[in-house]
Amino acid sequence: MIKVEGLGQWKRTSYCGEVSPKEIGKEVILMGWVRRTRDHGGVIFIDLWDRTGIVQIVFSPQVSKEIHDSGQSLRNQFVIAIKGKVRKRPEGTENLSLPTGKIEVVVDEMKVLNESETPPFELDEEQLGEEVRLKYRYVDLRRDKMQKNLLLRHKATQAARKFLSDEGFLEIETPFLARSTPEGARDYLVPSRLNPYSFYALTQSPQLFKQLLMVSGVDKYFQLVRCFRDEDLRKDRQPEFTQIDLEMSFVEKEDIMKVSEGLMKNIFEAAGHKIKTPFPHITYDEAIARYGLDKPDVRFGLELKDITDIAKQTDLKIFHQVIEKGGIAKAINVPGGGEKLSLKERNDLIEYIKGFGAGGLAWIEVKKDGCHSPIVKYFKDEVLKKLKDTLGAKAGDLILIVADNKQVTNTALGSLRVKLAEDLGYLKNVEPFSFVWVVDFPLLQYSLEEKRFEFAHHPFTSPLESDIKYLESEPEKVKSKAYDVVLNGTEIASGSIRIHNRSLQEKIFKTVGISREEANEKFGFLLEAFKYGAPPHGGIAFGFDRLMALMSGETSIRDVIAFPKTQKGICLTTKAPSSVNEKQLKELHIKLDR
Ligand code: AMO
Repeated sequence: MIKVEGLGQWKRTSYCGEVSPKEIGKEVILMGWVRRTRDHGGVIFIDLWDRTGIVQIVFSPQVSKEIHDSGQSLRNQFVIAIKGKVRKRPEGTENLSLPTGKIEVVVDEMKVLNESETPPFELDEEQLGEEVRLKYRYVDLRRDKMQKNLLLRHKATQAARKFLSDEGFLEIETPFLARSTPEGARDYLVPSRLNPYSFYALTQSPQLFKQLLMVSGVDKYFQLVRCFRDEDLRKDRQPEFTQIDLEMSFVEKEDIMKVSEGLMKNIFEAAGHKIKTPFPHITYDEAIARYGLDKPDVRFGLELKDITDIAKQTDLKIFHQVIEKGGIAKAINVPGGGEKLSLKERNDLIEYIKGFGAGGLAWIEVKKDGCHSPIVKYFKDEVLKKLKDTLGAKAGDLILIVADNKQVTNTALGSLRVKLAEDLGYLKNVEPFSFVWVVDFPLLQYSLEEKRFEFAHHPFTSPLESDIKYLESEPEKVKSKAYDVVLNGTEIASGSIRIHNRSLQEKIFKTVGISREEANEKFGFLLEAFKYGAPPHGGIAFGFDRLMALMSGETSIRDVIAFPKTQKGICLTTKAPSSVNEKQLKELHIKLDR
C-alpha cells in the first residue's frame, strides 16, 4: 500500500529544471511528477518533472532500504515531493543535453502526494492520435512540446501588452454578450432568461465596440480578446479564437502599419526571433495576378502567368469556350518538373485542382527534342515558343495550365502552387518568417449567389478617396483602405481605415442594396454614435492563434491553444456542447424541435 501524504511543513526550494551545479552539497526539496524510472542494479533513477524541466533523482539502498523500497513503488505520473542532497553525477554519466544533466539529487526522504493511474499515453510518444490527446488534454499539456507552446504564447502575450501599453494604447474589455449584427460568419446565440424570446450574440470581434470607443475619445485601444464565430472549422480556424485587436484615432493606414510592425517585432523578439521591418507591400491585384491568392506566400517562385492571349492562338476548343465566356488561362512553370512529377503525380494534381472547381489541369513537358503533352498537337510551333518564353521554361521543366473563370483559375492554380512548393521541397532553406502587407483590396465583391455586391471586408471600411466617384457607376472598381498582414501564406491580420462620415456610409449601404431602415435596424447604434463627433479612425486585428502556430512551427492552431475544439466544434475534454435539462430550457422559454 502506498501512503499518500500532505505537504506538511515541506516547502519547495527549487524547481526541477533549475537545480544547478552551484547547489552541489546542499539539501533541496523538489516537487513534481515521475516522468521515467530506471532500475540500475539496485539503484533507482527517476526523472522528476515539473514545468521547468527534468532532474534526475536517485533512490539508493546505501541511504536506506526503506527509501530504496519507496522508490521502487513509484509509477509514472505519481506526484511526489523529495528531500535530498545535490551531488555531481559520476564521470561518464552526465547528460549534457539536459540543463540539469551534470547533477543528480540523492533522495533522503520522500512523500507521495498523489498516485496516478497508468496515463492514457506515454508522454514521449511521437505519433499520438489527436483525439486521445484532446480527451486527456491535461496529460497532453505535460508534454515538452506543449509546455513550450504554452510558454511561448505567454511570452508573446506579455510582449504584446507591454509594447502596446508603452505606445499609449489602453486595454479595454468589451462585451461578449452583444447584439447580433451581420459580420460575415454565423453568430453563436445565447438566450436571455430575463428577456424572454431575445438572444444575445457572442461577439465575432469587438469591431463595433472599438469604433464606439474611438467616438468616446479613447484614441488608442487594444484588447487580447476572444472572438466567437460559428463557421466550418479547419486547421487554422476555431469557433473561439483570440485576436490582438487595436484601433486608433486621427490616423491613416501608414500609422496602423507602423504600430503593427512594431508589435510583430516585439512579439517575435520575445520568442527569440529577429524579423525584418517594414514589411513589403503588394497590392491585392498584383497578389492575385502573380500568386492567384490574396494571401500570397512570397517565399518561393512558381509564379502564375496569364496566358489567355496564347491560349486564344491554339486550336484547343476548351480554351476558346472558357475565354468566350469571360474566363482566363494561366500557367506555372515547374523547373525540373518533367522528372520530379510522374504521370501518376500529374493525375493526382488534376484531382487536387478539381477540388477548387476547376475542370482540369493541362501539362506540357519541355524536353530537349521539343514539347510533349496530350495537347501539344493543338499548339503551332510559334505558339509553343511564345508559351515557353512567357514562362521562362527550359528543357526538363513542366508547364501546368488551368483555364476557367477568373476566380476558379486563380484559386486553383494559386493553391496548386503552394501544394507543389510543399511537395517538392521549395520551403527548405527559405526565410523562416516572411511578412507581407496586402493593400488596395476591392471595397465590394459581386456575389454570384446573391446577385449583388457585398462588402469584401466589413461595412465600415473606407473606400480610397480617389475611387469614391465610381461607387455608383462601376462599384467593382472601388478600392478600399483595407489591409491584411500575410505571414508565410497565411492571413494573420486584417484591418482598415473606417468610414466616419454618415453620408458616405449611407451611400455605400445603398450600393450594396441595404436600405436606410435595414441599416438602422442592423447598425443603428453605431450610425447614431457617428452623429456625435466621430473622429477619423482605423485599426487592425491579429489572429493570435494563427500567429502562435506559425511562430512555433505547428501546422494546426489547436496545438497552440490549451483547450481547443475539434473540427466538429467539440471540446473532447469537457464534452461540450451537451444537452441541458428541461428546467433550464423552460426558464429560457425554449422548446426543442427534435
Ligand atoms: P477578421 O475577421 O479578418 O477581421 O479577423 C482578423 C484575424 O483573425 C483571424 N481569424 C481566425 N483565427 C482563428 N479562427 C478563426 N475562426 C478566425 N477567423 C479569423 C485571422 C484574421 O486575419 N474586426 C476585424 C478586424 C479589423 O478590421 O480591425 C476582424 O475581425 O488571422
